[in-house]
Amino acid sequence: MSLNINLDKILIIDFGSQFTQLIVRRVRELGVFSELVSHKKIRNFHIKESVKGIILSGGPLNVYELNDRLFDKKILTLGIPILGICFGHQILSKFNGGRVKQSKHREFGLARIFKKNESLLTKNFFNKKINKVWMSHSDQVYRLPKKFKVIASSKNSKYAIIENTNKKFFGVQFHPEVTHTDNGFKIISNFTFRICKIKKNWSLKDQKIQLINQIRSQVGSNKVICALSGGVDSSVVAQLLNKAIGKKLYCIFVNTGLLRKYEENQVIKTFKQRLKMNLIYVNAEREFIRNLKNVSDPEKKRKIIGNLFIKIFEKYSKKIKDVKYLAQGTLYPDLIESRSVTGSQTSKIKSHHNVGGLPKRMKLKLVEPLKFLFKDEVRKLGLELDLNKEIIQRHPFPGPGLAIRMPGVITKEKINILKEADFYFIEALKKHNIYHKIWQAYAALLPVKTVGVMGDNRTYEYLCLLRAITSEDGMTADFYEFKKPFIQEISNKIVNSIKGINRVVYDITSKPPSTIELE
Ligand code: XMP
Repeated sequence: MSLNINLDKILIIDFGSQFTQLIVRRVRELGVFSELVSHKKIRNFHIKESVKGIILSGGPLNVYELNDRLFDKKILTLGIPILGICFGHQILSKFNGGRVKQSKHREFGLARIFKKNESLLTKNFFNKKINKVWMSHSDQVYRLPKKFKVIASSKNSKYAIIENTNKKFFGVQFHPEVTHTDNGFKIISNFTFRICKIKKNWSLKDQKIQLINQIRSQVGSNKVICALSGGVDSSVVAQLLNKAIGKKLYCIFVNTGLLRKYEENQVIKTFKQRLKMNLIYVNAEREFIRNLKNVSDPEKKRKIIGNLFIKIFEKYSKKIKDVKYLAQGTLYPDLIESRSVTGSQTSKIKSHHNVGGLPKRMKLKLVEPLKFLFKDEVRKLGLELDLNKEIIQRHPFPGPGLAIRMPGVITKEKINILKEADFYFIEALKKHNIYHKIWQAYAALLPVKTVGVMGDNRTYEYLCLLRAITSEDGMTADFYEFKKPFIQEISNKIVNSIKGINRVVYDITSKPPSTIELE
């Protein structure tokens, strides 16, 4: 699926590497538009004049498996510069008369490459002739394709960087898009500017104006509704629409009673009072707690919350009358994963709560202005739209809220305890300037009581779990390593200030095998 953005671009053909989205982002970070298409869909993708360069990504396939269904070789005859990365490098080699085979030494992780020849692709890339690069391959090129030259080699990969300057074909066995590769961005930047000769054309300042104009022409004078959660994506969508159509936008904010402490006050203050939006505040706290009574199964909790949310949303949008559009914060990774790339079926881990089920039932047309942006781009766009940093740089918060941070049954008492613990934790992270080093952090309340001693008295209270992770995109994550004084301070604060908790534990699992949320 083409995004229909009429800008010169680098087209990334995805062969399924876990780093492909990173390539798209790296090109955009250079200020140049780039778009991703699956290798299986490339046949139907109209390669317009605006495609100034092509990058073939890495991937788990073997070049000898590639048939016409899996890859359209016509790409190689268009006269457009091509950079092949890892598996892409092997494709370029094989289809130009080189040979690829399984290597004796699989290379995963850091390797050193040595400069052999000068190239436009490696201008300012080498530090003292040797660079550390990130390799992740088991096959490798073992015979150089015709009319190609070796630019760099490693101990195991003789053809670590190769080029054919006539055809403007370049291949790198390693991954320049990952930060572990020294100066990797130089390879992508040289390919983009020196070889494809694209001019900078991608800034979120320009995008802001274009998106506002596009929304105006899409929705005309019709009414649009938007489910506002106070999170980054829905806040940016709401503010874009607010700038584009003002009072024709109706935002519905549902207080499920499962929000973080002071969340509802903050949302009302920002969106209703400061940004003067049409904000409908629905306090459905009691309804949610009633419906969740005695439910402890994680999936049941998620379904109950999702369905109730949709019911409330439908009820209030009917009250507004004559609504034609629903605005959603779909991002580019959502679009890639759901509609265009490999189509592979991954097993369902959790039923995500979002408003995806709404348009079909309500016959609304969708407005998805963020659908070609990555999360970090959405954050930058938010700043361009005068949203304050407080909102833009917030950690993600799941739709089902505190319900999935409280394994077991949900009670008002537990919610109150958890809200306090989470508040102290997050405030402490901010006070110690650690909040922005962490991708997501929260407190959870475990359904076990343990014995403690306070003063001379025995206590028997709940266990509080703290989780803080670093991540690029939430797909994989590692736990954050706190210094002892911090973790000690927050543990003392929680146990001493909150009646109901007498023990604090820190979650040190990564994702996988754990997930970020507990349920
Ligand atoms: P997991 O727990 O699957 O979470 O590792 C990955 C990221 O997704 C968030 N998350 C959700 N976000 N609705 C959302 O909008 C949901 O139902 C939901 N469940 C998990 C989670 O907070 C983390 O950032």
